[in-house]
Amino acid sequence: MDNFMFWNPTKLIFGKGQLGQLKNQLAPFGSKVLLVYGGGSIKRNGLYDSVLTILKDNDKEVFELAGVEPNPRLTTVQKGVDICKKEKIDFLLAVGGGSVIDCTKAISLGAKYDGDPWDIVTRKTTATDSIPFGTVLTLAATGSEMNAGSVITNWETNEKYGWGSPLAFPVFSILDPENTYSVPKDQTVYGIVDMMSHVLEHYFHLEEHTEFQDYMCESLLKTVIEFGPKLVNDLENYEYRSTILYCGTMALNGIVNMGYQGDWATHNIEHAVSAVYDIPHGGGLAILFPNWMQHSLSIKPARFKQLAVRVFGVDPEGKTDEEAGLEGIEKLRAYWNSIGAPSRLADYDIDDSKLGLMVDRAMARGDFGRFNVLKAEDVEAIYKASL
Ligand code: NZQ
Ligand code: ZN
Repeated sequence: MDNFMFWNPTKLIFGKGQLGQLKNQLAPFGSKVLLVYGGGSIKRNGLYDSVLTILKDNDKEVFELAGVEPNPRLTTVQKGVDICKKEKIDFLLAVGGGSVIDCTKAISLGAKYDGDPWDIVTRKTTATDSIPFGTVLTLAATGSEMNAGSVITNWETNEKYGWGSPLAFPVFSILDPENTYSVPKDQTVYGIVDMMSHVLEHYFHLEEHTEFQDYMCESLLKTVIEFGPKLVNDLENYEYRSTILYCGTMALNGIVNMGYQGDWATHNIEHAVSAVYDIPHGGGLAILFPNWMQHSLSIKPARFKQLAVRVFGVDPEGKTDEEAGLEGIEKLRAYWNSIGAPSRLADYDIDDSKLGLMVDRAMARGDFGRFNVLKAEDVEAIYKASL
């Protein structure tokens, strides 16, 4: 196990009716609040009205940034930054999924920076100040509600990059499973794939003696595997929604991955696809992850075997580590397909016509992946296997 420091200042407020906590959480901050949300789901399910009532009842002066896109765009970040600078906003409140939260993070830091917010995303500058923000999460997937990461797309240049900053932790996040009841089946599936992929990104690392971390990752995966199908067949079940919601947060808030660094190549490969084709993140991961695994099997077959045996119940008797590992990869693919996730880029009408551009975008920051260091030819091979 490697040395580590764990620090996560986000206050997590979880459960039925917890929106009632919003009043107290907002109390320490100034009166000018920018409410950030997406394309209208919170208006359709009533959450917008509930949040606005709380803000108004507590004498907040509310400004709004609506229409944050799935795969949030730099242009929308800029709109938010402009409002913050013009109105001298005191606090940002993100109400939505990972895209709304990620956009809010970029606004929070961008509003305290004199240059282009893209400089923060591309790490050209290190932000030194931010406007505090909180979240009301509506979709279980990214873990953005309790981490300091964000992913922003520059659609003009077909670039989509992850970035992070200690200033980008939400002050609080309110997670009421009932606020996720209205998430449609396809987005629910993408969220399940995304949180499982976060655990898998952690799981493939080269550190020794991470036994406790391994068991935590494996139990998280097993829980999602058990409850995922139940949830997609019963979208308004509180027990299933709450289990998956909690798993999504735990998968990427730093708890299960102390003492080692995971691979994270597949996320980079997927971001390059959605930078060019604007597909849902979880859908892209369902296609790419099994192919990354097959491409990387020979790096440390015993790791793949451990996953196969402990998580997917593969019987290792009489099999090489590679054979058992491969069976686990097939079971993962079959599981994702069984809940309705896509399995080929063709499912999104993606062919090889922009393959060069996707490889180029994936390689923008040089060779990548900590478990298996990928070069351009590896990325191209994984895309080709995914067509
Ligand atoms: O825009 P609205 O109308 O709100 O609709 C959204 C959107 O169409 C809808 N939705 C959200 N909550 C809903 C709902 N529909 C009905 N009822 C609700 N309660 O779902 C659609 C997808 O929302 P989005 O926020 O885009 O999904 P997700 O949470 O999966 O976020 C995806 C983004 O996060 C990035 C991805 O790359 C992508 O840009 N990621 C962020 C990470 C992070 N910050 O740590 C890590 C992840 O790996 C990921 O890369
Ligand atoms: Zn992800």
